[in-house]
Amino acid sequence: MQPLSKVVIPVAGHGTRLLPATKATPKEMLPVVDKPVLQYVVEEATAAGLRDVLLITGRNKRPIEDHFDRNTELEQALRHKGAPHRLAELQRPEELATVHYLRQGAPQGLGHAVLRAEQHIGDESFAVLLGDDLIDAGSPLLPEMIKVQQRHGGCVLALMPVGPHEISAYGCAVTRPARTDGTFPITDLVEKPRSDEAPGNYAVIGRYVLPPEVFPALRATPPGRGGEIQLTDALATLARQGTPVHGVLHTGRRYDTGDPENYLRTAIQFGCERPDIGPTLRSWLDHYVRHEMPRG
Ligand code: UTP
Repeated sequence: MQPLSKVVIPVAGHGTRLLPATKATPKEMLPVVDKPVLQYVVEEATAAGLRDVLLITGRNKRPIEDHFDRNTELEQALRHKGAPHRLAELQRPEELATVHYLRQGAPQGLGHAVLRAEQHIGDESFAVLLGDDLIDAGSPLLPEMIKVQQRHGGCVLALMPVGPHEISAYGCAVTRPARTDGTFPITDLVEKPRSDEAPGNYAVIGRYVLPPEVFPALRATPPGRGGEIQLTDALATLARQGTPVHGVLHTGRRYDTGDPENYLRTAIQFGCERPDIGPTLRSWLDHYVRHEMPRG
């Protein structure tokens, strides 16, 4: 089987939960400490060997294109200043991967965004990584998902157990018991079910490895929840029609950056764990919470 090399990262959503920050900047370009969320996602893809990156962009694509392009003026200024470390950081995004861009047009849902990739992907399996979802660097999740897809074919989804009140924010997977290799056969999927109607507690998180058969399924998928074309609905159809859909459990951490509270939690955790600024940030945070934070 041909090794996977392509990844689709949809970054065309409106990001309404983070307005007004996202009025003129895509939410995927907001920084976590000093790096845009999207760069972490591209780094995760390239670490798993996926160096052909297709970004499905929206109306604010300019800062994204600039980020993954050279900035010769700034390069020269940093050379002149004698700042080799900063220069390396500046050049890192453009050296990571071959980045392609496609506009989604009107954002009509994640499924619609993925369908735009059909011509670029052709007849290969590929990965989809959501541009506002982070997992820890070095996590085995994506390499493991790629391995499962290469071994068994079909679709591979990342799963995480969540509490009954959280499941309504996710696609929910109906699974059979785990196989001996730890993967879960998925028999059905429901997009954002009500807590009392959820058929299980496994949430589908923003990592997918998909075969090209997903494209005809997406084309045949009518608008679903929120009037949008849902990737979950197309995958549910494939599962019901007998395409193998495998769940790989993510046991590490995952960070959502799509709303203010989770975005801030992510920034605080990443900052606290950074070797350069972490120690002083942690002691400042500890002092702030104990002594300076207004009570009540
Ligand atoms: P979200 O549903 O979290 O993004 O989609 P959103 O619609 O921008 O969020 P809110 O609710 O308005 O705040 C998950 C990912 O899929 C992309 C988003 O950019 C995000 O990275 N997406 C979503 C698209 O590219 N196109 C779409 O039509 C919808």
